[in-house]
Amino acid sequence: MNELLFVNASQVVTCAGPGAARRGAAMADAAVRDGWAVAVRDDTIAAVGPEEELRRAHPGFAEVDCDRGVLTPGFVDSHTHAVFGRARAAEHEMRAAGLDYMEIARRGGGIHASVRDVRAHTEAQLVALAGERLRALARSGVTTVEVKSGYGLTLDDELKMLRAIRRLAAELPLRIVPTFLGAHEIPLEYRDTPGRRRAYIDLLVHEMIPRVAAERLARFADVFCETHVYTAAESREILLAARAAGLDLKLHADELTSSGGAELAAELDAASADHLAAISDGGIAALARGRTVATLLPATMVFLGRPGQAPARRLIEAGVPVALATDFNPGTSPTLHFPTVLTLAVSQLRLSAAEALVAATVNGAAALGLAGRVGQLAPGFSADLALFRATDYREVPYWFGAALCRRAWVRGKPCDW
Ligand code: NIG
Ligand code: FE
Repeated sequence: MNELLFVNASQVVTCAGPGAARRGAAMADAAVRDGWAVAVRDDTIAAVGPEEELRRAHPGFAEVDCDRGVLTPGFVDSHTHAVFGRARAAEHEMRAAGLDYMEIARRGGGIHASVRDVRAHTEAQLVALAGERLRALARSGVTTVEVKSGYGLTLDDELKMLRAIRRLAAELPLRIVPTFLGAHEIPLEYRDTPGRRRAYIDLLVHEMIPRVAAERLARFADVFCETHVYTAAESREILLAARAAGLDLKLHADELTSSGGAELAAELDAASADHLAAISDGGIAALARGRTVATLLPATMVFLGRPGQAPARRLIEAGVPVALATDFNPGTSPTLHFPTVLTLAVSQLRLSAAEALVAATVNGAAALGLAGRVGQLAPGFSADLALFRATDYREVPYWFGAALCRRAWVRGKPCDW
């Protein structure tokens, strides 16, 4: 039996509360406790409370000395594209020289470059490459990660990516949630011939989605709803087919232009609408009326060198639950350091440190349909913890780029990489 008592923390950030997305003022309460401890039995949190009380109640539990560090729920990175081949460093320079992201894509680079590359890799090669990357993400404090397909864009290559994700989930101690993103782009071979675009959407709806669902290779389906990629009407059709096949829904919405993505995510009651840097007033109002989590990805706008982050304060004030994620991918966010996203959440999105931590834990879990079991240090929740070299929780976003995470535990087991 695994019985652990986490003691001698300077602070325990419990994020404890209802097992549901937090909105408004509730996002600002991360429930930070001084002098508390956490008891873990097997893969679950057994108790959280004042250290002396927990010591008395849990004799025989093996003590884990937190060495005056800050203990938090492990981070939930609810939006990544972690399976890919090569880096795309040349595009970084091309943007610096004045080319924009969509112009690079129109010339056959961007997502298309990663598609060519992934098609040339075997499943085993993709597992090896992504395994290293996910280990690095875990070293920064992430214990649950969503991973999307979307660089295959043929039935076989999308299945290859999803099987790679399934193998990673079996091999790594991280909790991995798979998402089918066959609608990440219109593949080049379907793009420029009239009528072919429709043929790819038919392939998604009639072949790829049913096959992915039948093989239980994904929990969510996602679409890149954007000018020059999928329209809102096409995104609706693809997502409705995914829902009919039993998948839950996510949407890349209003990332670069306002194209009705947030409104569509709200209409379909999607688990999350992601990006939202170009969300309209109507989109904010639509999300405020529903349950969809707004997942903000501030590293992406910084890396693309674009002004204009998502209007996080307006979203929170409107009552929309906000989550944070890395968007880790080779084109727009090649970062494997989750705390940098917390830094950007405070510095660019103007969240408080407590709001950022709730967004990275409870609300990230809600964006993955896991809010009842993941994202809190509270009895009954999965024993997913991260320990930081800091004395005040606000230092986690403060020490910009620093490797503060000493260790993470997933389901009660240490990730020692
Ligand atoms: O979330 N926008 C679409 N997908 C990614 C970028 C993927 C890529 O450029 O390879 C994103 O930013
Ligand atoms: Fe993305």
